[in-house]
Amino acid sequence: MGLFSKNKPLVGLDIGSSSIKAVELSKSKKGYTVTGFASEALGPDAVVDGAIMDAPSVADSIKRTLAAGKFKPKFVATGVSGHSVIVKRVVLPASTADEVEASIQFDAEQYIPFEITEVNMDYQVVGPAQTQSDEPSMEVLLVVAKKDKIQNHTNVISLAGRTPEIVDIDAFALQNTFEANYKANPDETIALLNIGASLMNINITKGGMPLFIRDVSVGGNQYTDILQKELQLNFQEAEDLKLGKTGGPEADMVHPLLESITDMLIMEVQKTFDFFRETYPSETITRVLVSGGTSRITGLPEKIQEIFGYPTDVLDPFKSISIGPKVDAAKVTSLGPALAVAVGLALRGFDK
Ligand SMILES: Nc1ncnc2c1ncn2[C@@H]1O[C@H](COP(=O)(O)OP(=O)(O)OP(=O)(O)O)[C@@H](O)[C@H]1O
Ligand SMILES: [Mg+2]
Repeated sequence: MGLFSKNKPLVGLDIGSSSIKAVELSKSKKGYTVTGFASEALGPDAVVDGAIMDAPSVADSIKRTLAAGKFKPKFVATGVSGHSVIVKRVVLPASTADEVEASIQFDAEQYIPFEITEVNMDYQVVGPAQTQSDEPSMEVLLVVAKKDKIQNHTNVISLAGRTPEIVDIDAFALQNTFEANYKANPDETIALLNIGASLMNINITKGGMPLFIRDVSVGGNQYTDILQKELQLNFQEAEDLKLGKTGGPEADMVHPLLESITDMLIMEVQKTFDFFRETYPSETITRVLVSGGTSRITGLPEKIQEIFGYPTDVLDPFKSISIGPKVDAAKVTSLGPALAVAVGLALRGFDK
């Protein structure tokens, strides 16, 4: 990092429902390298469905995570997702970017299911819209997040003694990671599915822009839940059984239970893909990439490919990013696709 470096060193901090994940990257002519990494599991009640419930304990976990990884940067990029976040392409009556700017506040209101005073809003002009009418119109990517959600995230980072520099959207971070690692053909329509503990972030993207983003409340906790209920286990016993850490007499009962959750999860993907097809009849998904810890459920990517017929792979956040010598490479590799969002957040340190 030179004195005249344009890039602020920062930590990408993913505050997930099951764990905190922190990543720092450096950039050289050869590309990106992971120069810092740490993660810490969270108790089941600290972050629920992506919402921070126990701020002091989450702040303590962040502090410990950043200390364990010896992260120096003061600045942190974090992300939000779930119900309080809306990303939507909308068509607004305007013929120039200036006109969009002048009336966005008013025009956007109808697309936001919250009070306009409760949200932070941002947007990006996509370009002139293709519509039947003669009225000039512009397509705009609208990004809305509830202020209290953002504040909860910035608050725990401040409590942990760092500066919350960037609050991104998890689905955008996911796309950043995809773009940094894969050479996407601009005509390809790619469905990115990041399946965590409580949420699935879906980003259907083409040519470097999201076409469609939605977060669905499904994830790995449901696999754990069903094992807990059906086999009378506590959370940790069920979680270990799910991860294959324990065998035992229940082992042959486990498979069909896990399968039933996979079927439910795939139905949610189906609903989203159906809705996408109705909204964009001329677009065809060419490829699916799954990430998040739950992408590791045995047979999940294969089943997605079988049901939808799209080539499906697990997204590798380190496909084109090398892992530096000071970092626990085995740990990074073992978490692999679960670090997709954290890597995308860390990439924000290199924005132009
Ligand atoms: N090998 C594995 N097989 C099955 N499930 C796994 C495996 N590894 C991790 N998981 C599950 O993945 C989930 C954690 O994934 P991830 O770290 O992406 O979620 P998160 O970011 O903490 O949560 P969210 O984004 O939903 O708030 C947990 O439910 C965990 O049990
Ligand atoms: Mg997550």
